[in-house]
Amino acid sequence: MQSSRPTSQSSGHRSGQPSAHPPGQPSERPSGSDVLIIGGGIVGLVTAWRAAQRGLRTAVADPLPGGGAAQVAAGMLAAVTELHYGEQTLLGLNLASVQRYPDFVTELEEASGRGTGYRACGTLAVALDADDRAQLRELHVLQQGSGLTSDWLTGRECRRLEPMLAPGVRGGLRVEGDHQIDPRRLSAALLTACERAGVVFHRAWADRLSVVRGRAAGAVLAGGRQVHADQVVLAGGSRSGGLAGVPAEVLPPVRPVKGQILRLTMPPGRPPFLSRTVRAVVRGSQIYLVPRENGELVVGATTEELGWDTTVTAGGVYGLLRDAHELVPGITELPLTETRAGLRPGSPDNAPLLGPTALPGLHLATGHHRNGVLLAPVTGEVMATVLTTGELPEVARSFTPLRFPTATGHLPTGPATAGPAASVRQEQPV
Ligand code: GLY
Repeated sequence: MQSSRPTSQSSGHRSGQPSAHPPGQPSERPSGSDVLIIGGGIVGLVTAWRAAQRGLRTAVADPLPGGGAAQVAAGMLAAVTELHYGEQTLLGLNLASVQRYPDFVTELEEASGRGTGYRACGTLAVALDADDRAQLRELHVLQQGSGLTSDWLTGRECRRLEPMLAPGVRGGLRVEGDHQIDPRRLSAALLTACERAGVVFHRAWADRLSVVRGRAAGAVLAGGRQVHADQVVLAGGSRSGGLAGVPAEVLPPVRPVKGQILRLTMPPGRPPFLSRTVRAVVRGSQIYLVPRENGELVVGATTEELGWDTTVTAGGVYGLLRDAHELVPGITELPLTETRAGLRPGSPDNAPLLGPTALPGLHLATGHHRNGVLLAPVTGEVMATVLTTGELPEVARSFTPLRFPTATGHLPTGPATAGPAASVRQEQPV
């Protein structure tokens, strides 16, 4: 279905031609805007906030902005501890975002009047047996070869830093630059900042991209309402690969990658079990524990290729608790306050797709996989530049969607069927 005549045909706004609309003022055209962002997760919200700050009349389509993966994610900002072989290009973008984080948080907290739970606490990656230790050593070599700073510690040194760690911890890596943020508080702050910057929220799914005369021109929302925009950003997380109306050759090759995660809570008045984020390899499986200042201890996460399934399973919870217990035996006395599963937007190279597509007027900000929270500051900045200049900044050139020229057939078509998980825990080095 094609849209009716879009505002772009009459307003003359095009990529590279920002409107003169002052930031902080709601759009005077409620059904039309300079930019429509499809998806109000952290990536969509940060893009909207930055676009509105640059004077673009900005709208977001999402039934529950600030929901989705942001409500599940642990919020590790672990560019160094989560380095993987073959992902050195992504490392550059991750580090660019890490660098921006402190100023980004200061600006956002001021703009929204809300805290984000950002903690510059560092991360400790530990190993429990000889094989796990060898994996961690490999990671150390990779980090050193990539010019990154991390310190190798003995088991005793690890326990001196984190006394609740099990006596069996055989060694570890201290990474002073890997921090954490609370994604729930981050998305709430972004939502408020967007509202204060004049972003309009359409609280509905976008059912279909509107294309008029070969150009993205807005979307048809659930219920049939048409919203017009001169430019559209598809930031729908794991759902980005399935939006109707997007030409097949432009659809992002993004698939859902399930993650199960737990939350334990320290009883009030008790000192925290851990002072910093702890990652571990436990018999080849990875686990992380993220302690928040409010006493929450987040334990994650499974990595499962099961399509759209978001069932929390006994096996998933058991595996996480078993490994967390082996690492920090005392956790079993804590109340288990939440179990959740979410969907990461995976891409073929684990890196995001940012910027213009082959369809004029349509941009992507998706495929952030394990790094959506980490990449929020740089994504917002890059997308605002794309929307106002039409150019992808140097820092993001390698992440152009055009690196996947013909992306089709990448999405699971329906709910996951019963059967064994394709993979339940990561087997790569931490
Ligand atoms: N970045 C952590 C995860 O995706 O589980």
